[in-house]
Amino acid sequence: SPHLLGIKDLDEESIQLIVKTAREFKEVLNRPIKKVPSLRDVTIANIFFENSTRTRLSFELAEKRLSADTINFSASGSSVKKGETLLDTVNNILAMKVDMIVMRHASPGAPHYLAKHIKANIVNAGDGTHEHPTQALLDTFSLQEKLGDLAGKKIAIIGDILHSRVALSNIYALKKQGAEVRLCGPSTLIPKHIQSLGVEVSHDVKSTLAWCDAANVLRIQLERQQIKYFPSLREYSQFFGINRAMLEELPKEIVLMHPGPINRGVELSSDAADSPHSIILDQVENGVAVRMAVLYLLASRAS
Ligand code: CP
Repeated sequence: SPHLLGIKDLDEESIQLIVKTAREFKEVLNRPIKKVPSLRDVTIANIFFENSTRTRLSFELAEKRLSADTINFSASGSSVKKGETLLDTVNNILAMKVDMIVMRHASPGAPHYLAKHIKANIVNAGDGTHEHPTQALLDTFSLQEKLGDLAGKKIAIIGDILHSRVALSNIYALKKQGAEVRLCGPSTLIPKHIQSLGVEVSHDVKSTLAWCDAANVLRIQLERQQIKYFPSLREYSQFFGINRAMLEELPKEIVLMHPGPINRGVELSSDAADSPHSIILDQVENGVAVRMAVLYLLASRAS
């Protein structure tokens, strides 16, 4: 069965096909009747072993807009708490005649492991610190809306790169489209090996903002840190936090992005997050159309 496990193995043509299909679905979503029959009689299970607001709700809404039947599973409150394995859990869900699995899991590679053992289509909705492919696709969609073709465009990814699946999936997606990518953050949060992916590294947020056409700002993921990289979030905010005055001082307008959830006052001040530079809520809106496109294209390849 075809899957969407990551951006690493997706070619540029497939990325552009997903974006083009998502543009058509975005038009549908702006009509008075938003629902289409494309996935009627397809049953999709959203299985989440990690917390989520945007990804879980936008997958569910995308499925409903496509007329799929959906069931939602959260590890908390399930028999996982009694010791049931991931594979047993998924095989039990599939026994109820489910066609597709959308899954989020804390372990990098969990959806790749499942893909080897089950027949249903799998969409990775975030696997630990590894990949978050639909986030990178909705970021590409949102960037293209603002900047057009991304070849030669300068995109900065600022913050906790080390723990970020959003950063890795975005790097793959942006490089495949010929964008220039610069990572910015404290050296403890930018792993050395990531430079082999053809990205620049900076530790200076002001010059990075002056360089870029768009800045994708990431959250400091305290929950994933084994050791404390900073004595306090206040220190991160002092050296790498972005506020509206910094955006107003720039020689040209830049696009400000954030995958959410925002830690207001840490990586972004509220006056920056809520400024006209920000397309943060457009990203969330576009996420529904992009997830519709991913599910629709996977289902049509499966039949
Ligand atoms: N951007 C994102 O993945 O948000 P959630 O964790 O709320 O799904």
